[in-house]
Amino acid sequence: MALSDFTNNVKPNIARAPVTKAVFPVAGLGTRFLPATKAQPKEMLPVVDKPLIQYAIEEAYSAGIRHMIFVTGRNKRSIEDHFDTAYELEAELETNNKLALLRLVQDIKPDDMDCSYVRQPRSLGLGHAVLCAERMVGNEPFAVLLADDLMINKPSADQVGGTQLSVLAQMVKLYEHLGTSILAVQEVPMEMVSRYGIVAGEVAEDRLSRVNKIIEKPKPENAPSNLAVAGRYILTPEIFNQIRRQTTGVQGEIQLTDGIANLLKTQHVHAYQYYGKRYDCGSKEGFLEATVELALQHPEVGATFRKFLQDMKF
Ligand code: G1P
Repeated sequence: MALSDFTNNVKPNIARAPVTKAVFPVAGLGTRFLPATKAQPKEMLPVVDKPLIQYAIEEAYSAGIRHMIFVTGRNKRSIEDHFDTAYELEAELETNNKLALLRLVQDIKPDDMDCSYVRQPRSLGLGHAVLCAERMVGNEPFAVLLADDLMINKPSADQVGGTQLSVLAQMVKLYEHLGTSILAVQEVPMEMVSRYGIVAGEVAEDRLSRVNKIIEKPKPENAPSNLAVAGRYILTPEIFNQIRRQTTGVQGEIQLTDGIANLLKTQHVHAYQYYGKRYDCGSKEGFLEATVELALQHPEVGATFRKFLQDMKF
């Protein structure tokens, strides 16, 4: 399949179990954002006016996914509250006839979206977090979204062969054709490879390769390429057995990357260079970049904020 097929609606040729569930590992401590994250989850930090986790949920929803599975931990209650009804607030907005705001609040969780929560009792790593969702996922392909990685796909007018689809929607479409696990990847400077899972593979098509190696946070001298896994995955359910089989890896954690490396021994896995922009909101710099760029695009504050920046004396 050519990736341009995204834009002309080619139907998949094989019937596959659809991707209906997404897993959101949100149990992390958020130490990089202390003190802001002392008493609130990092996933609830807002970029302009929306918490990070809501961007990720909206991306999954736009990909046709309706069952959201949160792998949570202590201090994460506000995430559950955010995707629940807020009776007092809604009643108040209704009484005061603030109907646009009421709609905004109610749209956070559309009626056809289900949310489930499972606790990760200890911070044992991303692989372990995904394993915690096994019973809820069952024997189906599923998506994993790391809310730290904020993905925006707004193709510019001059972009060739682009798509309006969100990053996860692109991957779901691709899954319908390939039927394999798919990892979103992007090129990073060689000196940054030690922050990521790094893949190497054989190029299958423009933007698509078949992975033959994956390694978590390698030193630049050991990295097989500079293609880094961004926080979006579609995984076949066989990943659970592979994660269970592995021992602790880098940083003493059970790494999802090591589970994928095991999976490679029995199944094909693809790496996909998505259309879109990733903001690393797990870092202060990335969070600030996202805030500025999204504020500039914001319908309510964009124009005044642009003027503020232009007038600013550095
Ligand atoms: C995790 C994964 C890593 C991936 C990264 C993307 O790392 O372990 O493979 O490249 O997310 O953001 P973390 O950022 O949690 O250290």
